[in-house]
Amino acid sequence: MSSIDIEIQKAQKLIQEADAVLILAGAGMGVDSGLPDFRGNEGFWKAYPIAKERHLSFEALANTEWFEREPTLAWAFYGHRLNLYRDTIPHDGFRMLRELCRSKGDDYFVVTSNVDGQFQKAGFDTNQICEIHGSIHHMQCLRDQGHGVWSAEGVAVTVDIERFTAQAPLPICPRCRALARPNILMFGDWDWISSRTLAQTKRFDDWKKEVAAEKIKVAVIEIGAGTAIPSIRRISENATKQFRTSLIRINPRESQGLLGTIKLPMGGMEGIKQICLS
Ligand SMILES: NC(=O)c1ccc[n+]([C@@H]2O[C@H](COP(=O)([O-])OP(=O)(O)OC[C@H]3O[C@@H](n4cnc5c(N)ncnc54)[C@H](O)[C@@H]3O)[C@@H](O)[C@H]2O)c1
Ligand SMILES: [Zn+2]
Repeated sequence: MSSIDIEIQKAQKLIQEADAVLILAGAGMGVDSGLPDFRGNEGFWKAYPIAKERHLSFEALANTEWFEREPTLAWAFYGHRLNLYRDTIPHDGFRMLRELCRSKGDDYFVVTSNVDGQFQKAGFDTNQICEIHGSIHHMQCLRDQGHGVWSAEGVAVTVDIERFTAQAPLPICPRCRALARPNILMFGDWDWISSRTLAQTKRFDDWKKEVAAEKIKVAVIEIGAGTAIPSIRRISENATKQFRTSLIRINPRESQGLLGTIKLPMGGMEGIKQICLS
């Protein structure tokens, strides 16, 4: 039996024995739905060739300063992603995970750094999802944090992808008509309104407390979380320690981890299929 087969078996056993599921996902989770991750400049520039022409890295472009300096560029990037994520159909791995959760009496939580809303789209309950970097499907005012967070439903952004520019009218705040921005944590971002994420984090903390208090067996499954900004990996590793279990890490290039990590060096959809179908 190959070492990968042994890892798959270990993961299957943990999942079978578990009564609850914690799913953690980074950008790699969307790759099999056809979405780009932003792995290094090469990955990012492949998805956004125009950013390469302008020598802009992901870190440089995902910065609030563009909303002031060049709103049509800022909204080209976020408007394109908003449209892309709206049009995307979550891959089959999402459905398999959803079924797995259902088989555990819907005792689950999802934590993701993705802003794309794909877990909601795949039927996971909004109240059982924590979006640590916010959501592109929500907006906030660029000028006044007091104007709160609102849904982007019904907000349309037209992007000329060739010229990488968003066309007027750009999204505005319904209260003061100043420019709006996505309610996403960007780089150098002191103005992000974290209220949604804070409420979600509170629900996640409560869930963890409940699960720990009742000594419920949890399967911790992490998919496509990168090392450049290791926020999701840290949350997975801490939860794994708290629940005294082993982390199941699905990642084709970066499946390494702490001692005891069950490493599945494969794509998200394939990895989920391997461990959920036994
Ligand atoms: N869809 C989104 O919402 C989206 C997309 C890109 C980036 N982001 C943001 O950018 C930041 C990037 O951090 P990150 O660690 O999530 O992404 P990252 O781009 O740094 O890393 C992606 C990870 O996915 C792995 N991967 C590649 N193909 C995969 C596949 N088919 N299946 C599973 N895994 C695969 C890579 O090996 C890598 O470890 C985050 O803050 C996130 O909010 C969001
Ligand atoms: Zn406003």
